[in-house]
Amino acid sequence: MSRLEYLFSVTLFYLLVISNNVHTQDVCVKKGPCKCEFSNGTGIDLAAAAKATFYTTQTFELQMGGAEYVLSTYYYHPCFDVTPSVNSSKPGTGCDSPLSLCRHVDRFNYNITTNTYVADGGIYEKMGVTNLSDFSSDGKSIIYTNLPSSTIVMLVCAQSEGELNVYSLAEPNKIVLSFYTRHACLTLIEEIGRSLGSTLLIIFFSCVIFYLVLGVCTKKFLMGATGLEVVPNLAFWMDLPTLVKDGWVFAINGFKLPTRGAGPVTSPDPNSYDSI
Ligand SMILES: *[C@@H]1O[C@H](CO)[C@@H](O)[C@H](O)[C@H]1NC(C)=O
Ligand SMILES: *[C@@H]1O[C@H](CO)[C@@H](O)[C@H](O)[C@H]1NC(C)=O
Repeated sequence: MSRLEYLFSVTLFYLLVISNNVHTQDVCVKKGPCKCEFSNGTGIDLAAAAKATFYTTQTFELQMGGAEYVLSTYYYHPCFDVTPSVNSSKPGTGCDSPLSLCRHVDRFNYNITTNTYVADGGIYEKMGVTNLSDFSSDGKSIIYTNLPSSTIVMLVCAQSEGELNVYSLAEPNKIVLSFYTRHACLTLIEEIGRSLGSTLLIIFFSCVIFYLVLGVCTKKFLMGATGLEVVPNLAFWMDLPTLVKDGWVFAINGFKLPTRGAGPVTSPDPNSYDSI
């Protein structure tokens, strides 16, 4: 095998490996507070779901054998922080600054005398701000960190413009909300060209074809070759399957040359480059 042929087979092998392995782990890279992008240029962009008002959802819970019930209201504003107007009458509570996630917990106690439930006015708790939020690597949720808790907003591609739901309250420190919106559907964020691997492959094979065409023309018209003879380096092309196989063997052997048992030893070190 000539040095050139050897280089050729190793190069070919590497190009194949690169083009296959570029996309093994696709992460939705954060491009903004509510935008992330996969390597192929598609991604999630919630910008259009950010309206003037908060998305809300409520849960009810009976406690103390029905003597008290708890009404929780969750407020969510994607993409940027807004101060909820709901608690302007109650300053000094947890949600009186710009934020993305807030919860209002209202407790209603049963009064035997009046036979009614009486609200205690409730408390507001800040649950997250845009600056402390991050996409999950699969782009399917945004995690709002508000130590020691965090809240996960699952992004669900749906028909609706935007609808908030409580998904799980199982872990009070890790509440999971779900946000159903058509803006959570995969969309084209940025036009991206081919991957590096496939570009290299295309350049490489273009060169090979150009070389072949040039070679055939030269041999045919300048040297007057006929039939199969017009193919430049014919012997090499016949050898190609073997060369590719050798490339594999070279890589599998940990990039050491296979030791050749039989045959004349022409070089003192069988692993040196010159022995190829
Ligand atoms: C782009 O990549 C994402 C994540 O790997 C995948 O879900 C999506 O189908 C891809 N889109 C196209 C058009 O290939
Ligand atoms: C129940 O309501 C009555 C009438 O408003 C009030 O006087 C009483 O203090 C209430 N009881 C409790 C336990 O809150």
